[in-house]
Amino acid sequence: MKVLVVGSGGREHALAWKLAQSPRSTELHAAPGNPGIAGLGPCHPVHAEDAEGLLALARALAIDLVVIGPEVPLVLGVADALRLGGVAVFGPSAAAARIEGSKRFAKEVLQAAGVPTAEGLAVARPPCVVKADGLAAGKGVFVCRTQNELDAALRSASGLGDDFVVEELLEGDELSVFAICDGVTALGLPPARDFKRAFDGDSGPNTGGMGAFSPVPLGRLELAELVGSVHEPVLRELARRDAPFIGLLYAGLMLTEAGPRVLEFNCRFGDPETQAILPGVEGDLLGALAAAAAGDLGHATIAASDEAAVTVVLAARDYPAAGDIGSPIAGIAEAEADGAVVFHAGTALRGNRLVTNGGRILNVSATGSTLGEARVRAYAAAERIDFDGIRFRTDVALEAANGAPVG
Ligand code: AMP
Ligand code: GLY
Repeated sequence: MKVLVVGSGGREHALAWKLAQSPRSTELHAAPGNPGIAGLGPCHPVHAEDAEGLLALARALAIDLVVIGPEVPLVLGVADALRLGGVAVFGPSAAAARIEGSKRFAKEVLQAAGVPTAEGLAVARPPCVVKADGLAAGKGVFVCRTQNELDAALRSASGLGDDFVVEELLEGDELSVFAICDGVTALGLPPARDFKRAFDGDSGPNTGGMGAFSPVPLGRLELAELVGSVHEPVLRELARRDAPFIGLLYAGLMLTEAGPRVLEFNCRFGDPETQAILPGVEGDLLGALAAAAAGDLGHATIAASDEAAVTVVLAARDYPAAGDIGSPIAGIAEAEADGAVVFHAGTALRGNRLVTNGGRILNVSATGSTLGEARVRAYAAAERIDFDGIRFRTDVALEAANGAPVG
């Protein structure tokens, strides 16, 4: 199969890396890709949101499957344009991607599907959570424990647009559960946890994610049971609304004392969770994505290895406020010689020199027979890498590796 991966971040590098390992993969292409993905196959200068350009590229290359990474092209309908043009796509239509694109729509679907979520509140009073309705790249959610926090949140949320929702504040451990979906059936992947705050101890501003680990032990819960009670009812409700979901349905869950509650849905693979989940996937991911795109996930299975994986994000000095451009990067080969995999997230080539080009620059993933071992390896590899202003959290997976209860 000839595969085209759309996007240019660490998530897309991890997808390309895994898909290229499939025995079914004959050619791996990316648009626009990045210097890391370029090591796996040709990268084409077509923007991830350029539906016409991607359709022309997919036709010219006789691509068998397009895999779309980021949410923005999905919400804009890039998958629809490709499907209309006769190209097989793993990624939801714009109508189904609203599950991420509109918090209000997501709440309606959850309620209609009978899936437990945070209760909506008619009156904003602390403690509560305020969420801007549209896509806000992780910056539209405000957890308010005090009146001052609530006042600030309401000001910021109205600055992001005229629509927001208010809901109860849930307490518990968070978990990301991804499922490959063909519109009807959902196939769960090993659960992950990401680290959203910029600094150690979950302090500082929210970011796109500073690290992740997988699997997260589910305690008494079963993955299939979770997917059957969260993802599958949502698939049924979306199909009933003529918006069948074909792609990766990502449930952000809070494991509360009363059971799992949905915090949010995303319509695509998570970043950086994907970089921690895929190293532990042993089955044929490409086969499963192609089957889902064909509407026939049927008997596809995904085998998970016994190993744990930890991903550490190497970020620019001022991320998330600002990125860094043009600082030379050293040490990737040394980090990989240590057994880690280094995914490119914000890099560029200047001449033949690899330089920084963004906020999150690289993602270092390592596996081990325990979470603790994976963690030690990931950090040892991260220490090998250097660029001006390099910064990373030092506590990714620390509590879980020390045996603190995770769910
Ligand atoms: P979201 O983009 O909806 O996942 O929200 C981002 C983060 O805000 C989540 O990962 C949670 O840490 C937090 N959050 C969202 N909704 C709630 C809630 N109802 N109660 C507590 N924390 C929440
Ligand atoms: N890691 C959070 C996200 O991808 O939205």
